[in-house]
Amino acid sequence: MIRWAVFVSGLGSNLAALLEIRDKYPMALVVSSKESAYAVTRAREAQVPVQILPTPIDWAQVLKHLEEAQITHIFLAGFMKVLPQNFLQNWDKPILNLHPSLLPDYPGLKSIERAYNDRADIGVTIHHVTEAVDDGEILLQEKVFDGEQAQSLSLEEVTKSVHQVEHRLVCQAVEKICGGHHG
Ligand code: GRF
Repeated sequence: MIRWAVFVSGLGSNLAALLEIRDKYPMALVVSSKESAYAVTRAREAQVPVQILPTPIDWAQVLKHLEEAQITHIFLAGFMKVLPQNFLQNWDKPILNLHPSLLPDYPGLKSIERAYNDRADIGVTIHHVTEAVDDGEILLQEKVFDGEQAQSLSLEEVTKSVHQVEHRLVCQAVEKICGGHHG
């Protein structure tokens, strides 16, 4: 039985996309690095259990909570913290991360803006998480604009299109991992 935990830090628009398919792929837990994140509101409205991470994060406590909730898969969907080695070494099940660039290009922060300013291709990647940040085997990747195409739009318009692709891709990633069968 696959049970997902979605890790969030902000608006939660990708969590919202995942919540839309929860009848087939239930999200068993939302873990947020911020109590005030709108993603927490979305989780509570959907009656999904929420764990708010303290600062500093007690990663041993996170592991314990995930095990108690019988979580089998983690999706980092807009999660703005780096998972430390000791967490990754103690978690042997899949972790997916959503990143708004065509990795390995533009890892890190402000990826869309940096690719846009460089007239580089713009896209979305969902990859398995390893101990190196924004590295790990790519599960899904989709180009949203090629470098020149994006220049005819504003950064805001490009960003909006990237988020729309993210919302579809996070659902495709869950479906792909779950092998099409439910839950
Ligand atoms: C997304 O662009 C994600 O790729 C990035 O932060 C944003 C989070 O969006 N890491 P949301 O919180 O899911 O709306």
